[in-house]
Amino acid sequence: MKLHKHKPLTELNKMKKLSVIFVLVIGIMLLSCSDIKRKPGAIYMPDMAYSRAYETYIVRDSTKFTTDINHTDDKIFYNNMPVAGTIARGEEMPFPLAKDAPGDSTNYVASRQIQNPLPALNGKDMKEAERLYLINCAICHGVTLNGNGPLYKDGSGPYAPKPATLVGDPKYAAMPEGQMFYSVTYGKNLMGSYASQVNRKQRWMIIHYIKAQQSAAAAKAAPSATDSTKKSTKSGAADSTKKSTK
Ligand code: HEC
Repeated sequence: MKLHKHKPLTELNKMKKLSVIFVLVIGIMLLSCSDIKRKPGAIYMPDMAYSRAYETYIVRDSTKFTTDINHTDDKIFYNNMPVAGTIARGEEMPFPLAKDAPGDSTNYVASRQIQNPLPALNGKDMKEAERLYLINCAICHGVTLNGNGPLYKDGSGPYAPKPATLVGDPKYAAMPEGQMFYSVTYGKNLMGSYASQVNRKQRWMIIHYIKAQQSAAAAKAAPSATDSTKKSTKSGAADSTKKSTK
């Protein structure tokens, strides 16, 4: 009997409890909604949400990230560039000539006198110079330095100006290394500067490589210059057989 009476009462209590919990939960859910959706009230591990990495070109509050006690500017601009006037370990000395003002060619002409500071490259360094050339220059100047890289493609490529024929044009065969360095460093007409892609030492290495390729081509051409008619037909035949076997 007691058991019978007791049962419906607990059911009722349970129902009451449940509805109270239900109302509370709905209430909390409604309260926790807010207009500002992008800012959570608390962040777990803030360093993961907001990176403290010193990214390039980022502006930071100096008091938070350094021991700047003077609070002079309170802003630090990170462009990750070395301090002006410093030279990285193992890097070559800076080029002594500045870039000419537009329309001026004083330093371009003067650069002819500047010698390559690197001694002749050994086999390993020459291989590295070739690698650097192929990565940075061959796209325009061609793998064989003929001024006809895939970007130019006989004028049908996406890059309109004709790159210099570094091997096969007497003008560039005669160009002194200092002047080449000037052009690669500061740019020449429609060729941009390569100073940020290849450092000074690498640029001088590439120029060694260009000069070596020019001398190799000159040495190859020299014997045929003696009896031109015979050799030209011969080399043409040799070329075609080479191509057919390849
Ligand atoms: C985007 C194409 C392009 C790339 C890449 C390029 N060049 Fe050039 N280069 C040119 C063009 C075009 C000229 C001809 C500029 C002129 O005389 O008007 C030129 C000219 C030159 C000259 C002759 C400069 C002078 O004073 O007449 C040299 C030397 C040279 N390039 C070397 C290099 C080297 C080394 C690299 C790689 C680090 C390189 N170039 C990468 C397009 C390119």
